[in-house]
Amino acid sequence: MKVLGFESSCDETGVALVEVPEQGGGAPQLLAQALHSQIVMHQAYGGVVPELASRDHIRRVLPLTREVLAEAGAELKDVDVVAYTQGPGLAGALLVGAGVAVSLAAALGKPTLGVHHLEGHLLSPFLSNDPPEFPFIALLVSGGHTQLMRVDDVGQYEILGETIDDAAGEAFDKSAKLLGLPYPGGPHLARLAEQGDASAFELPRPLLHSGKPDFSFAGLKTAVLTQVKKLGDAPTDQQRADLAAATQAAIVEVLVKKSLLALKETGLKRLVVAGGVGANAELRRQLNAACAKRQVRVHYPELSLCTDNGAMIAMAAAMRLQRGMATLHDAARGSFEVR
Ligand code: KG4
Ligand code: ZN
Repeated sequence: MKVLGFESSCDETGVALVEVPEQGGGAPQLLAQALHSQIVMHQAYGGVVPELASRDHIRRVLPLTREVLAEAGAELKDVDVVAYTQGPGLAGALLVGAGVAVSLAAALGKPTLGVHHLEGHLLSPFLSNDPPEFPFIALLVSGGHTQLMRVDDVGQYEILGETIDDAAGEAFDKSAKLLGLPYPGGPHLARLAEQGDASAFELPRPLLHSGKPDFSFAGLKTAVLTQVKKLGDAPTDQQRADLAAATQAAIVEVLVKKSLLALKETGLKRLVVAGGVGANAELRRQLNAACAKRQVRVHYPELSLCTDNGAMIAMAAAMRLQRGMATLHDAARGSFEVR
């Protein structure tokens, strides 16, 4: 069975084709994927412009689909299920992926399957050569979400804790903006931090000692703003690098501590890190070190699959289909929803 997946929740248009083997035939396999990032287009505005995002998804989605099919040596008629990101995300952007998916499926006489964007991130490490085994703790750190979850199987998710305000990616992005870095700030701040000394600034670690796997990053952003104001109009390159390093250190320390707390509370020995912030090298370094000490195995998606992509959506759909857990919709009825 072949699943075609579409991702269009924010500023990446992703398309992928995944093969679901017959029962007992092993894990689903990624046949091909294609991605277009809108980052350059939005950079001029300092953030994602929803209307522009939707229009660009419209421009990209069919050419990317042709690319994926060609690379996989497949044709549209080979597709058995059309999956798409149902949400959360930008409404207009989501509607492009959903509309294209439902139209294609209706034309092909095949069903559709709506996928939760975060489930896509969560299951993205299953696209690697060394996939995790259930159960595990998942640290989901994206631009919009920061959650710790206990994952017993596909669809069996228990949220242990989450952010009460900003997401970790948001903390990276907002702090980066205050430091005059381009959108999306996370990777730029991480690069600047490499030249900096994290101990040069003291920044808060909100909720670090709350004893619960919950997060709060809004205060950190305010503290960064205070420091930026103190530095005045012409901070030196070193001061900016130091502040970037201090910001990253504060975010990473909280993420590591809370992940360890969730592992300790549940007694689980596997950690899966997913979402854009999972690409952060300092987070990976510290998590690897802390987990090695505790005989905990850490799994990450491939770097290129940390941020939004179509492969994770097709994979999540495939894993649900394989377990008989997918709610398929008859596309010919034309109904679909985005959340
Ligand atoms: O998962 P994602 O692509 O989109 C959402 O679903 O939100 O995550 C995007 C977030 C952005 O906040 C971006 O700045 C952050 O992931 N990010 C990083 C890095 N790469 C991406 N943050 C820190 N370090 C990175 N290397
Ligand atoms: Zn995402």
